Amino acid sequence: MKIGTYYYPEQWPREDWEKDFDRIVSMGLQIVHLAEFAWGSLEPARDRFEFGWLDRALELAQERKLDVILCTPTAIIPIWMVDEQSDVLFTGQRFGGRRHANHLHPFVSERSKKIVEAMANRYGNHSSVIGWQIDNEVNMPFDQSEHTRRAYQQWLKSKYETIESVNDAWGCAFWNTFYTSFEQIRLAPSRDPEYRNPHECVDSSRFLSASLAEYSRMQAKILKPKIGARWITTNFMPFHPDTNPSDFSDHLSLFSWDTYPITGWGKEFKDERFRISDPSAVGVIHDQMRSFTNRWALMEVQPGQVNWSGYPVRLMPGAVRLMLWQAIVKQCEFITVYRFKQPRFGVELFHDGLVQWDGETPSAGGLEFMQTIEDVKKLEKSELMSSSTYAPLMPDPEIPEVGLFYNQDQHFNYLSQQQSKRWSLPKLVTNYHAAIERVALPVRVVQESSDFTGLKLLVVPGASMMDDSFIQKLSDYVRAGGHLILTARSAMMDHNGRIPQGLYSSRLYELIGAKITGYDSLPDETFGEVEFDRKKHRWGAWAEMIEPTTAQALGTFTDQFYASSPAVIQNQFGSGTVTFVGAIDQGSLSDAVVEFVAKQIDLPVEVLPRRTRLHRMKGASVFLNFNDKAVTAPAGGDAKFLIGERRVAAAGVAIWTR
Ligand code: GAL
Repeated sequence: MKIGTYYYPEQWPREDWEKDFDRIVSMGLQIVHLAEFAWGSLEPARDRFEFGWLDRALELAQERKLDVILCTPTAIIPIWMVDEQSDVLFTGQRFGGRRHANHLHPFVSERSKKIVEAMANRYGNHSSVIGWQIDNEVNMPFDQSEHTRRAYQQWLKSKYETIESVNDAWGCAFWNTFYTSFEQIRLAPSRDPEYRNPHECVDSSRFLSASLAEYSRMQAKILKPKIGARWITTNFMPFHPDTNPSDFSDHLSLFSWDTYPITGWGKEFKDERFRISDPSAVGVIHDQMRSFTNRWALMEVQPGQVNWSGYPVRLMPGAVRLMLWQAIVKQCEFITVYRFKQPRFGVELFHDGLVQWDGETPSAGGLEFMQTIEDVKKLEKSELMSSSTYAPLMPDPEIPEVGLFYNQDQHFNYLSQQQSKRWSLPKLVTNYHAAIERVALPVRVVQESSDFTGLKLLVVPGASMMDDSFIQKLSDYVRAGGHLILTARSAMMDHNGRIPQGLYSSRLYELIGAKITGYDSLPDETFGEVEFDRKKHRWGAWAEMIEPTTAQALGTFTDQFYASSPAVIQNQFGSGTVTFVGAIDQGSLSDAVVEFVAKQIDLPVEVLPRRTRLHRMKGASVFLNFNDKAVTAPAGGDAKFLIGERRVAAAGVAIWTR
């Protein structure tokens, strides 16, 4: 297990470099991440490549036995490209920012190929380089330029072939908004249709992701033949609506993402938990990243305070270390941090690094990195983790994973057809992630194409777009003995977000053993109540009225004009069960339902204190406390603590062997 850092030699005077690399090593870091954003230094004028500085940085790394992650620098174009072709930037953008060049512009695409080829030729075989990051946090606006428009039309043509199919998929019969040729179609101006066509907006979202994936694929194709067995990744942002990571799974060998969870944005806190990350908001993305190729890494992690959130709260001591352990227990291959030195110029002046403005003194987060590196060494000594390789800490194979369905495409659809202002699919999926981890079970994120056969329990929250084949697959899973939890808003639509002929979600009636007769959604700050397993739970975003046929009611609405009607039901179907949760709540109902079903089917559950996590690994248990108060670890009397102790401090970590 290796932990490393971003370093931008081109941002510092040469005299600093040796000292900086020495400091990287003396802090125990083992990886440096280089060249992201460096196009302007690598090719300061057209075809004038200046690799000397990067050669030297790689030499410094090699001399110190540091591994290197190299980045393609395409997230920021050099100014000469703007001089040469003034329309290379997305409409309305000006030079000086980043990710503002239109990758669909032929000049950007041609020059990107050139710089990636030049880097691949020069460093493809470099013995210090372990892998490549393409670009940085790929994203784009709903650009209205000619180049983007043409690319969108082309994408639609290859997807639909005929204009009649587009009209059909988008339901253009509504308001007679038919197109008669592809050339008439423009990219939607945003994903909010306002009062235009929502289906069209969903395709526009899909196009953004497809075009960014194509740009990444183009770079990967150049790298692949030159870099041997080294991995290729790009760093994603959590639930970011411009990308569906699935679109990248054909060419990335490792998935990675950037986590900045402590932003001061949480309004609901009455204590100091806002200074500590929310374990499920982070954990669900770790598990999503792991789901594609079974190889993942944390590329950026918040080292301390950030400059951009508007509420630069100071982190709780321990919060950084917790973030590192949370990634480690989820089998990440490595962690790198943005960034090593805190900048003294530029927009991120107030963004912490591992060392402070003097370039030497560790920040509070830097000290937590150093501590974690020491902790990891302890685990390596006791042979719980393997040293010097990228082999992750492995989970206990005896503890079954619970499947959690998430496909970003569903999110694209909700962003254009939200219906309730309180609805958030990421929040719903995060709540179910929290519910599964609350009973100490590991999560496996799955999609339509995943193999469900090994899963005893599968949770599919809020999947509104389901094709018949997916409903069939879920039915087969349950019939063969699987246990399924479904929620409101499931299977209402086809993959274009249109409602199939029939009653409300009628394709589910046989599976859930009930009819759904309608729905409800409440104004802000208004809550309805559901009683389930002798406890009351609040809901607000969405509820569905259920009329059981073969299902049993497990929970009921206790108020509103439909009080005492079923809110949670369970149906025996073949050899398995389907539990349908008709109310979308604040988190406590999802907790209760998952605990109930997991116990009912005899999964090895351990109910944990709120905001704590227990990861049962091969040979050791790792307990993470995301609270601002101390908590007692759920360790047996004979537990031997390797790290921490039974009473786990606020934002503390404990690791013990059994
Ligand atoms: C990330 C980005 C980094 C840096 C960081 C600041 O989103 O990839 O380059 O800007 O945010 O928190």
